[in-house]
Amino acid sequence: MKTHILVTVSLLFSSASITLANSEAMDTLLQTYAAQGAATTNAEQGKRLWVKTYQNKGEFSERSCTSCHTQDLTAPGKHAKTGKIIKSMSPSSNPERLTDIKKIEKWFKRNCKWTMGRECTVQEKANFLAYIDKPTNF
Ligand code: HEC
Repeated sequence: MKTHILVTVSLLFSSASITLANSEAMDTLLQTYAAQGAATTNAEQGKRLWVKTYQNKGEFSERSCTSCHTQDLTAPGKHAKTGKIIKSMSPSSNPERLTDIKKIEKWFKRNCKWTMGRECTVQEKANFLAYIDKPTNF
């Protein structure tokens, strides 16, 4: 019985993420996060987290994902420290986005630490992915 429920749940997840995802990489990542405990993906929560400000001591005392990527994911951003232009984040405006698992995980790790002072949970990453994939829905 338990196994049966598990199989049903994971089938539900995989079909849900297939319809949601734009890319194979994102699909694989969402399934990995689901297996690690991210029960749902919620793009609206992703947006909330994206614009949230975190207090930090010293330089750049107010940090947010928008510090470098801005609030408009379909437009280029600018690195808060280096001033370098960062290409737009949404796959609809930049087809290279969310196509490379290693790259996504590398930047999640680095950017969550810089912005929030800790690594993101799998639930937060799942929500971020859903939002970055379809930011114009919100
Ligand atoms: C200090 C600047 C900075 C902040 C703040 C920042 N990022 Fe980034 N981010 C970058 C840079 C630089 C890259 C890599 C350059 C590029 O891909 O254009 C990047 C790339 C990414 C990517 C890779 C996407 C892909 O498929 O190419 C993801 C995902 C990402 N950031 C998520 C986030 C999230 C989530 C936050 C907030 C928790 C955040 N970033 C905050 C600078 C930043």
